[in-house]
Amino acid sequence: MMTRTGPSMVPSKSPLRLGLLGLGTVGQAVLALIEQHGAIYAARTGRSLEVTAVSARNRHRARRVDISVYRWYDDASALAMAEDVDVVIEVAGGVDAAYAVAEAALSAGKHWVTANKALLAEHGQALIALAHENHAMIGFEAAVCGAIPVVKTLREGLAANLVDDVQGIFNGTCNYIFTQMANGMGFEAALADATAKGYAEADPALDIGGVDAAHKTALMAALVSDGTVDFTAVSVEGITGVPDGISAQLAQHGYVLKLLGQCRLLAHGWAVWVYPAAVPQSHPLARIDGVVNAVAYHGNAADFGMLQGLGAGGAATASAVLSDVLDIAAGRGVIAGGLPNGSETTVVPVSERVGAYWVAVSDGGASLTAVLQNISAGLTNLGTALLVSEVREADLRDALNAQQYAGAWIRVEGV
Ligand code: HSE
Repeated sequence: MMTRTGPSMVPSKSPLRLGLLGLGTVGQAVLALIEQHGAIYAARTGRSLEVTAVSARNRHRARRVDISVYRWYDDASALAMAEDVDVVIEVAGGVDAAYAVAEAALSAGKHWVTANKALLAEHGQALIALAHENHAMIGFEAAVCGAIPVVKTLREGLAANLVDDVQGIFNGTCNYIFTQMANGMGFEAALADATAKGYAEADPALDIGGVDAAHKTALMAALVSDGTVDFTAVSVEGITGVPDGISAQLAQHGYVLKLLGQCRLLAHGWAVWVYPAAVPQSHPLARIDGVVNAVAYHGNAADFGMLQGLGAGGAATASAVLSDVLDIAAGRGVIAGGLPNGSETTVVPVSERVGAYWVAVSDGGASLTAVLQNISAGLTNLGTALLVSEVREADLRDALNAQQYAGAWIRVEGV
């Protein structure tokens, strides 16, 4: 194999000094990449990277990298404020403790690079304000869809657009579970497998409950709506509530299940929604399998586009973490990560969704058909299910309740 010599620029500036919080799958992958490619990174940015300090919950856990060469801190906040740390990389997760450390770091004028979408989705506003006060960068590429450069794409590549729609598969664990289940594996076994591969959150309830995808959706919504997004207003449904047996029924009719996130501009505000949906097999998102994520967007000038790539995993997430670190090294970092520091985006509840729905029926659905015909622009009877289109979700729910409907229904996208 040919050896890569890389660019020949010799670093002339002082090293960028890094403090690393979290030495799990992602933290170790960050150290491994720096060890492996440090010279080429330095040549690319004109500045070498130097890891000066590390911290994690457990100092003595077995790891694939030797951490004895870095100064150890038991106290993460002390690391965050250390004199010889320019950038704090946080890949430890959690919200409350991480918030306190982020505050300490930004207040001390350190840059903050994080994979922690929960922290940013729930406390972003305070941290953004602090970053502006202290002229500090926040890097959060790793917080949204793993290795896919989606933050850069929305913030920089599509900067000239009004992006009115972002939709996709934003959680690798759920997509992996759905893919494995379609291949015959049980839910629990598929979740255990995703956990063993390092895809799931420390608390996998965040993945399967849809909250992790919602955190990412809220961050993307803030970028494309140019406003702050109140996370409590985001509509979130995970994959645990998918009705039994509906997957097999959908497959018979050429649909697959996907956990979708979306931010879409509607007449009265933004849809910021996460839910499991049926997608026709011919749709590009239906072919995104395993831990892969995909982000489909529409901009007024760029029109439609789609990115896809690994959504979770140590090396994939470390790739995104280091893209932010290298931006800072090269002087391309962005104050507060470009997250808006202004007015609040109006978020519309999912009850206002107008779209298509799959309604399972056991008896041909004669009485239901009559009721739904009054509220829907289109109704297809598939025998074991009704495909209802162009109906407002609140109206559908009212009609189903009025019929004392006890069967399964699910949203349909891409028809
Ligand atoms: N648990 C997350 C996922 C990791 O499965 O997508 C990346 O955010």
